[in-house]
Amino acid sequence: MSERRDFFGKTLGAFAGLGALGALYAAKRTWDPLPSVKAGGFTTIDVKSAQENVLITEMWRGKPIFILKVAKDDKKAHSNKRLIDINGDKFLVAIGLCTHLGCIPAYFGEDHSFKCACHGGEFDAAGEVTKSPPPSPLVIPPFKVSGTTLVLGEEGPEYQKLKADGEIA
Ligand code: FES
Repeated sequence: MSERRDFFGKTLGAFAGLGALGALYAAKRTWDPLPSVKAGGFTTIDVKSAQENVLITEMWRGKPIFILKVAKDDKKAHSNKRLIDINGDKFLVAIGLCTHLGCIPAYFGEDHSFKCACHGGEFDAAGEVTKSPPPSPLVIPPFKVSGTTLVLGEEGPEYQKLKADGEIA
């Protein structure tokens, strides 16, 4: 009987171990950063391998920066002028701090929204407020696009245009 129990115990342990490994692998894939280079206050990120609807968080000048390749089936966000066109795909690039009191919202891919745990504020995948109290959309940092590369910290023509269109305060 004790041999049988041993066998079941070991089998159960092996399954639990495999489950934990699987969870770790999934977490690593989600948190794998894109190839990036930091130099002189600029951060250069190649978004070529970014996956649709999977949030990437980079650090730039001590702030989290959200980079999200917006899902094509998210029609509402996809047509928003705040999104950045990189090589034919639409990206949200925004400072990952809630505009209410500065918490870091989490992204929920299943409903294409950012939810802030501090006071319940919500943003859509284009960074627009969908539920108060945040008073304004997620802030777009200075950026420049060059091929599939995003340069944070430099004001390129796309950033200047968003500014001229009033999308950036
Ligand atoms: Fe996000 Fe208050 S800090 S809702």
